[in-house]
Amino acid sequence: MTDQATTATKKLFIKTYGCQMNVYDSQRMAEAMGAEGYVLTENQADADMVLLNTCHIREKAAEKLYSDLGRLKPLKAERPDLKIGVAGCVAQAEGAEIQRRMPIVDLVVGPQAYHRLPAMARAGGGVDTEFPAEDKFEHLPKPAATRRAPAAFLTVQEGCDKFCAFCVVPYTRGAEVSRPVSRIMAEARDLVARGVREITLLGQNVNGWHGEGQGGEWGFGRLIRNLAEIDGLERIRYTTSHPNDMADDLIEAHRHEPKLMPYLHLPVQSGSDRILKAMNRKHTAEQYLRLIDRIREARPDIVLTSDFIVGFPGETDQDHRDTLDLVRKVGFGMAYSFKYSPRPGTPAYDRPEVDSAVADARLQELQALLTHQQKATQEGMVGREMGVLFEKPGRLPGQMIGKSDYLHAVFVDAPDAQVGDLVRVRIRASSSNSLAGELAA
Ligand code: 5AD
Ligand code: SF4
Repeated sequence: MTDQATTATKKLFIKTYGCQMNVYDSQRMAEAMGAEGYVLTENQADADMVLLNTCHIREKAAEKLYSDLGRLKPLKAERPDLKIGVAGCVAQAEGAEIQRRMPIVDLVVGPQAYHRLPAMARAGGGVDTEFPAEDKFEHLPKPAATRRAPAAFLTVQEGCDKFCAFCVVPYTRGAEVSRPVSRIMAEARDLVARGVREITLLGQNVNGWHGEGQGGEWGFGRLIRNLAEIDGLERIRYTTSHPNDMADDLIEAHRHEPKLMPYLHLPVQSGSDRILKAMNRKHTAEQYLRLIDRIREARPDIVLTSDFIVGFPGETDQDHRDTLDLVRKVGFGMAYSFKYSPRPGTPAYDRPEVDSAVADARLQELQALLTHQQKATQEGMVGREMGVLFEKPGRLPGQMIGKSDYLHAVFVDAPDAQVGDLVRVRIRASSSNSLAGELAA
């Protein structure tokens, strides 16, 4: 057998934990390993390499890695040539410690070193958690010109300089780095040429993106307007944003750019000024509310979503009531809420914790309110007509599943439609996590 033949049969299984940036990174790693002769498999049991792309944001997320590695032990014992790799933020945070705790792991690669993964795989393993000076995306092999699903992610910015007191991201993803305009435009054009009609721009602080383009300094709003000029690109979204980086040009893009979808994920974390200060969020509840007013003035139908942490050290009943109060004032379309999880190395790690049962009760109360608001937002869509981009066929014959302009999953009876069609749909009904509608006449 030739070398080519042996490499061509290698199978790669990737499990992705955590955020959308990990989904994007997993795709790029799969493409990079594709150039080494690896093809993706859905079946871990017949893989030659298992890559776990991890999340470190909360303790539970990080612990999942170790329970999954525990489950991989028998497979590795059966097939010692199976390569096991750990990528992502746990790899960055724990480095070689992962191999000490779990000797079955062959390679550990941090999020800024993915372009070195193929060489590590060839060498049979290693640990790389450097923050190299070169742009990893530029050093990843160009993806093959294969057809893509209609909605894609595109990372434009990475890292965070905000240092919220609870958050590991500034340590695991490093300082804020914006990718240059020309590379983002080239990647977007390539995606569109491969069938993509909707792009979600990704970054830990995506609206902090800035760059140099024609005419000098560009802000994120200008980048969006430029992307909107690409023929065939119909929808633009972005996530995740920080309230303090919602610049005027971005708000104006929401007013004037029809391709920019009326949806904004804008984490606030708490509605208490005392807690916001302790979290180092650098804005007050009132400032957040005023910002929301300005965004809604520019785009009245925008759906707002957010993240909340309950039980942050020092949080009192009054602070919690302030959070509920902010939620009532805004009216969110959906929101994620988490119980505070102390993360080693972050400023809040050693602060005295709120009683766990108290935090649980607060989380339940907040989630009940958020669920109520989500239901109200979805029910408010019933009877309205909106764009839906079909992403996959449904389980019923003739059914399609797509995303509305407002990012709700929508089930539509559309026997003649294809994946990738962008159609007008009248919403007929709302259920717990989706909408149902029919093609508008
Ligand atoms: N504990 C709980 N939630 C956290 N998040 C980030 N760090 C922590 C932590 N230590 C939440 C924040 C953030 C989201 C991605 O995860 O709400 O916006
Ligand atoms: Fe973490 Fe705060 Fe940066 Fe968001 S803004 S990634 S919560 S440090």
